[in-house]
Amino acid sequence: MNTVIDPSLSTRIHRIYNELASMGSLAPSQRVNHLFSELVSISMSRSRGEADEVLGDPAVSAIREGLWRVCSRGEYELERHWARRIAAADDPAAELRSFPYAANYDKLTRLELSGLRGVRDELPRRVLFIGSGPLPFTSILLAERLGLPVSNIDVDEEACADARALARRLGLSDRLGFTCADALACADLSEFDCVFLAALVGMNRREKSRLLHHLHGAMRPGALLLVRSSQRLRTLLYPEVDIHGMAPFEPLLEIHPHDEVINSVILAERPGPDRIAG
Ligand SMILES: C[S@@+](CC[C@H](N)C(=O)[O-])C[C@H]1O[C@@H](n2cnc3c(N)ncnc32)[C@H](O)[C@@H]1O
Repeated sequence: MNTVIDPSLSTRIHRIYNELASMGSLAPSQRVNHLFSELVSISMSRSRGEADEVLGDPAVSAIREGLWRVCSRGEYELERHWARRIAAADDPAAELRSFPYAANYDKLTRLELSGLRGVRDELPRRVLFIGSGPLPFTSILLAERLGLPVSNIDVDEEACADARALARRLGLSDRLGFTCADALACADLSEFDCVFLAALVGMNRREKSRLLHHLHGAMRPGALLLVRSSQRLRTLLYPEVDIHGMAPFEPLLEIHPHDEVINSVILAERPGPDRIAG
């Protein structure tokens, strides 16, 4: 059976990208929200044949990294807007739950915890989240679900300040710590049982590989690395991390959601001192 390819798909993706890339601000607005929603719906609702066709289109390949950068700016602006809105709300906990992607984060974090339960007898006790952003939704859920402190790193000072203010308003300052630093400048992460790497940390294969090699040097043997990735047309929104490209880490499992959860997840282990995986 021949897959019917929608010839206008690449054109639509290009139109959306050109408009977003030409905008001075990607702070939430009717037009920005509409364009990102259109991109998200394109990324979720296509057959493998269509996805391969579109991703094979040189015109789309040429704008892939540009798309990740506008998605990163857009996600940052959305998080900043909501972090401040939640911190200013009379009922911050209720406002947090009204965040448009709250259900996505809820499901994604549940998938990640089930993956962690699948590869270890016990859940991690010391967790680090790299790239927590102004709205550290994952870390909030992890702290609530694990009942444990979660450490966070973000290279953006304002993101850390917004996240700290939000944690204070949510009464989570004792469980959520924020350090403003570039992950590549963190030499010793040996205290952590599990390190999460946000999908928008590292904007291409080279940057992701550099991060993996750096984290291998900073993490202790036996510790787990959870990397957020993407698949098929969802790679228009977030860089894909190839599970066969996880060296020097040893990949353990990969999760590909097919519902409204956009990110895929790779779990890998930091192998012993004398062994480099791959
Ligand atoms: C927008 S957030 C998304 C994470 C999301 N809040 C979550 O809970 O999953 C991505 C963040 O990664 C940060 N970031 C990007 N590269 C980084 C690096 N090398 N080290 C630390 N933070 C980084 C950005 O400043 C941005 O705030």
